[in-house]
Amino acid sequence: MSQAKKALTFTTRPGHSVSGDIIVPGDKSVSHRSIMFGSLANGTTHIKGFLPGQDCLATMNCFKAMGIEIEGPDSDHNVTVHGKGLHGLSQPKEQLDIGNSGTSIRLLSGILAGQQFSSSMAGDVSLNKRPMARVVEPLQLMAANISAREDGTPPVVCQGLAENQKLKAIDYILPMASAQVKSCVILAGMYAEGVTSVIEPGITRDHTERMLTAFGYPVTVEKNIDGDEQKTRISIEGGHELTACDIQIPGDISSATFFMVAGLIAKSGQLTIRNVGMNPTRIGAINILKAMQGDLTIINERMAGGEPVADIVVKASQLQGIDISERDVPLAIDEFPAIFIAAACANGTTRLRGAEELRVKESDRIQAMADGLVELGIECTVFDDGIDITGGEIGSGTIHSHDDHRIAMSFAISSLRATGSITILDCDNVATSFPNFVSLANEVGLSITQA
Ligand code: S3P
Repeated sequence: MSQAKKALTFTTRPGHSVSGDIIVPGDKSVSHRSIMFGSLANGTTHIKGFLPGQDCLATMNCFKAMGIEIEGPDSDHNVTVHGKGLHGLSQPKEQLDIGNSGTSIRLLSGILAGQQFSSSMAGDVSLNKRPMARVVEPLQLMAANISAREDGTPPVVCQGLAENQKLKAIDYILPMASAQVKSCVILAGMYAEGVTSVIEPGITRDHTERMLTAFGYPVTVEKNIDGDEQKTRISIEGGHELTACDIQIPGDISSATFFMVAGLIAKSGQLTIRNVGMNPTRIGAINILKAMQGDLTIINERMAGGEPVADIVVKASQLQGIDISERDVPLAIDEFPAIFIAAACANGTTRLRGAEELRVKESDRIQAMADGLVELGIECTVFDDGIDITGGEIGSGTIHSHDDHRIAMSFAISSLRATGSITILDCDNVATSFPNFVSLANEVGLSITQA
């Protein structure tokens, strides 16, 4: 299901000061999961702070296509999901359209593997190039009848289980630190006979585990496996139930990062970003930007809906290049495009390694960022699993976003330090994760026009 090529272009003018008090939209990962768990729960789930981005709306439409009644999002971002229980989904009439969303297709693979009906999923041009073998392989080990194309790309096609057939529980060691793959296997584990366990080699976002607990489904998390503090085992027994609950979605730290970087690289100003999700498995960008001597202050730390949240005060700073700790890579995996802009504005060289996963995101984010940075006059060297970026003067030029929302937003932020105008092509997909990005950016002092 490919989409016609769209062509929204951002044109930026250099900026100077960034200041204000803003709230970023709801967390994308948590929004996806709230629809999934709400649909599979018994009873009615009320969601507050839902992200009305295209990715999360794609997840919502998939569950509607499988017979779940969902109201909203209304103008206050409230959503109501009338769950039908773990076995309440019905066969979609058509192939499920996943749009641009890797999280939707990978987590849904785990859910669909456990159903008694057949289904097929595909997305836009970018998603249809992304690797799905990473979820298909463990699901096949669980005796699911699921496949992707020979090269591992979508469509993902799943033949329904026979009546009374259950998936087989497995013990699975994740080959890469991926919350999507972990979540896929855990979700399939709800439909398996026995206890399924997943060992992750590095700490990844734990929203699935947290939300399972919030919905009353037992899940066991053991840290420090084999004496390695990076290794965690998550175990889940099939056959329990999810009970509807109320979900409060925190602001998305991935969206907040664009504004953290904006506030830091601006020549002056102070910005407060409110209600940002501070889940410890998501704060890699804060660790990295602080290590770069960014002036970030975390205030009003509190819990909301089972997730830690806080406000972040950002002040313009002279950043310093660093060697990024590999431990922070999975904790900042979506934030590297914005961090690369911070590196381009820092004194000296910033080095990143162990980040080969960046090559299989919505675009090859190492190459797409390197090409854009070089176009703007920044020196960088690309490696298979990372990049070296030496800070310098940002010029003007034309950037290809490769239809990747985070590439588009990162270069929009770089305009704060540019000597001239930057044109960024193919920015439609900014709406997948951050529909009001341009208005919020212009509100705090950037100058972005879109046409
Ligand atoms: C996500 C996990 C990450 C991240 C993606 C959202 C999730 O992917 O890049 O944007 O919601 O589980 P991987 O787990 O594949 O690294």
